[in-house]
Amino acid sequence: MTGLWVTFEGGDGSGKSTQASLLAEWLGSRGRTVVRTREPGGTEVGALLRQIVLHHRGEVDARAEALLYAADRAQHVATLVRPALARGDVVVQDRYLDSSVAYQGAGRVLGSGEVRDLSLWATGGALPDVTVLLDLDPVVARARLDADDKPFDRLEAETGAFHERVRRGFLDLAAAEPDRFLVLDAALPEDELAGMVRDRIVPLV
Ligand code: TYD
Repeated sequence: MTGLWVTFEGGDGSGKSTQASLLAEWLGSRGRTVVRTREPGGTEVGALLRQIVLHHRGEVDARAEALLYAADRAQHVATLVRPALARGDVVVQDRYLDSSVAYQGAGRVLGSGEVRDLSLWATGGALPDVTVLLDLDPVVARARLDADDKPFDRLEAETGAFHERVRRGFLDLAAAEPDRFLVLDAALPEDELAGMVRDRIVPLV
């Protein structure tokens, strides 16, 4: 792989999409070809899986949920991410396997190691060059989501305790891989965060 792959992670309401878009815009203005994508749902198959995993009304078993995210990821990496990196593009992506480890592994208590191994199998072991973790107190994140006035999806509707486990799951991942992760305080102003992200990426582009 010759391009650059940057993922954004964090709880719901942490501002990932905003920061990913700001980075993509800035890279574009420097002449790089940027592929802006997300999980779940970055491909046609992924969009169908996203609909099930986020909006199915009945019960979804925790293992089934983990497998749906892993299936989305397999398709996404094989058909979109790897080809883009092989062309030398920059892939800027909302969420990747760290989300599965945090939400399904820690949040649903399926076990971090197993969930990570499942995604590594699904993707042939592909890992991003840089992962930006936007860390935020779930109580603050919840207030942001409430202010947004959008209906909650299945995961957003989970309890405060669930989102606390997710947060801890992300921080544990970052501590285990300090070279890949950039951990930022998502309560900081948007432009300050964008500057810190750029500082990390500049030497790589
Ligand atoms: P996201 O697209 O960030 O939500 P939104 O469209 O509201 O910004 O993510 C959708 C939800 O899926 C989010 O609550 C986190 C969850 N998720 C997992 O539980 N596991 C995963 O592997 C991924 C990628 C997302």
